[in-house]
Amino acid sequence: MKRPTHRCGSLSEDDVGKRVVLAGWVQTVRDLGGVVFVDLRDRAGVVQVVFNPEVAPSAHEVSQTVRSEYVLQVEGVVRRRSPETVNPKIHTGTIEVLAEELEILNESKTPPFPIEDEIDTAENLRLRYRYLDLRRPRMTRNLLTRHRVASSIRKYLEEEGFVEVETPFLTRSTPEGARDYLVPSRIQPGRFYALPQSPQLFKQLLMVAGLDRYYQIVKCFRDEDLRRDRQPEFTQVDLEMTFVEEADVQALSEGMFQRLFHEVLGLELQVPFPRLTYEEALDRYGTDKPDLRFDLTLVDLTEVFRETQFQLFARAVKEGGMVKALPLKGEAKMPRSELDRMQGEENLKRHYGIQTGARGVAWIKVQAEAWQGPVARALSPQEKEEIQRRCGLEPGDLVLFVAGQKGMVNATLDLLRTHFGRKLGLLEEGTYRFVWVTEFPLLEYDPDEGRYTAMHHPFTAPRPEDVPLLSTEPDKVRARAYDLVLNGNEIGGGSIRNHRLDVQMKVFQALGISLEEAEEKFRFLLEALQYGAPPHGGIAFGFDRIVMLLAGAETIRDVIAFPKTQRAACLLTEAPAEVDPRQLEELWIRILPK
Ligand code: AMO
Repeated sequence: MKRPTHRCGSLSEDDVGKRVVLAGWVQTVRDLGGVVFVDLRDRAGVVQVVFNPEVAPSAHEVSQTVRSEYVLQVEGVVRRRSPETVNPKIHTGTIEVLAEELEILNESKTPPFPIEDEIDTAENLRLRYRYLDLRRPRMTRNLLTRHRVASSIRKYLEEEGFVEVETPFLTRSTPEGARDYLVPSRIQPGRFYALPQSPQLFKQLLMVAGLDRYYQIVKCFRDEDLRRDRQPEFTQVDLEMTFVEEADVQALSEGMFQRLFHEVLGLELQVPFPRLTYEEALDRYGTDKPDLRFDLTLVDLTEVFRETQFQLFARAVKEGGMVKALPLKGEAKMPRSELDRMQGEENLKRHYGIQTGARGVAWIKVQAEAWQGPVARALSPQEKEEIQRRCGLEPGDLVLFVAGQKGMVNATLDLLRTHFGRKLGLLEEGTYRFVWVTEFPLLEYDPDEGRYTAMHHPFTAPRPEDVPLLSTEPDKVRARAYDLVLNGNEIGGGSIRNHRLDVQMKVFQALGISLEEAEEKFRFLLEALQYGAPPHGGIAFGFDRIVMLLAGAETIRDVIAFPKTQRAACLLTEAPAEVDPRQLEELWIRILPK
């Protein structure tokens, strides 16, 4: 076997006249009455190879036996194609290689699906034959993009003085809000390691150790419900810095994305990114991860409907809920059939994917003569005037209303806003809208557990002026936390941490974590805070999500070489798998019947 001199897909007109050795996979073979054409593929793309019996009789003879996905080595000369055979769709479309020698390096069974971008194949089959799936140009490109993203981030952080430090995988539970993946200890029967949900505590300890700027591109493990943007093992760009405040971490992050977008997409991002408080985000968009690519905002009309005759709304307000509206410019023309599809839980689920508990969406069509719709009839002139003013309504507009408990109303309107943003073509493809969401509450009440839990994690610092509220009104305490949102995706989250033991203990107390429990779980952290812990803060970015958005992929599975299914299985290796009973015995583990 000879070493390839070039990649198939990277040959160009500059190479015309050169003698090249190529190796790759057969994309297609065409036998055109004597002359055989093979499209040969490697990670850079395809090039057409011509086997002419008059030029190279023996290579031509062998070429007649090749099939899709055979591995070939070809030696030949690059030449210009005749004008009528130019293929403008591919990078190598103006050239071809006239083969002189051909060696079949390996044969291939017929692949279970065609190796091309547009295929109609169940994802499960793609995952089982992932090595073939990754040969498809789009998937190869995704992995190359992933590599470029990592490389750009590494260069930036290193230039900014960050040091990469690895942290353990066999460790103790790190509370990020998901279930742990546990690893049993053979040497210490009945004891378990937990795989880290993030390197959170280790990176804080590295700050106490004086490393001052740490980063790591690192696997994290979380046993949680999976979705298109969640995997049980995923990758974070994790970083931490000493002697910083929120603005420093944010500015550093903005610089990272500026460089990344410049290097990978050739786009210049404007910084600083806009900022929204958590309250503002929920108020205007119904979510703490708003997609700002379209300019639809929600309007809170609770106060307008406090005394209304429209019973449905009046009741919602009386019961401590809210009434909120989504005005849609010029949409009074929306057909009745579409409005009817927004009535009833079943309809909302079927047509809009809304499963928030909302029972229906009320509406008003604003016409020059009169307002139409079931709500309109019950409204007083003052109410109408107030709605018109707050929503900025003009004839021809449509207003959608949802009434009820705050969480349900926001969740429903968030989904409707996204639905109509896309459907009405308000979403500009190819744009990237970043936003920082700040001033999150430190704690949220968990009715199932009957106690407060940390909205980010328990090591997040409260705003200093809010510390006294920890013991009196924990709901009101704002965190020094920030999330970075891109096109409606949460791509990062971080905070300034508690570097003082007294504040950390107050937070634990508000979380209902007793002194003994804190000592038992986090002794190492509590001790470290007593040995000159510097002020510090940081952030972690969802690396897979960032690559997904940059690569224009539908799910993070498409940018991970060997991802898991929704049921957390690897279809390629068939993990998780049963193990030898002797292994279990060594681990002191017995499987209970299901
Ligand atoms: P957080 O839990 O917000 O913060 O995680 C940071 C980012 O990681 C991504 N992410 C995920 N991506 C894919 N699959 C998952 N299952 C998954 N879970 C999270 C998200 C998220 O914004 N230790 C803190 C960071 C800090 O405070 O510095 C942490 O882990 O994009």
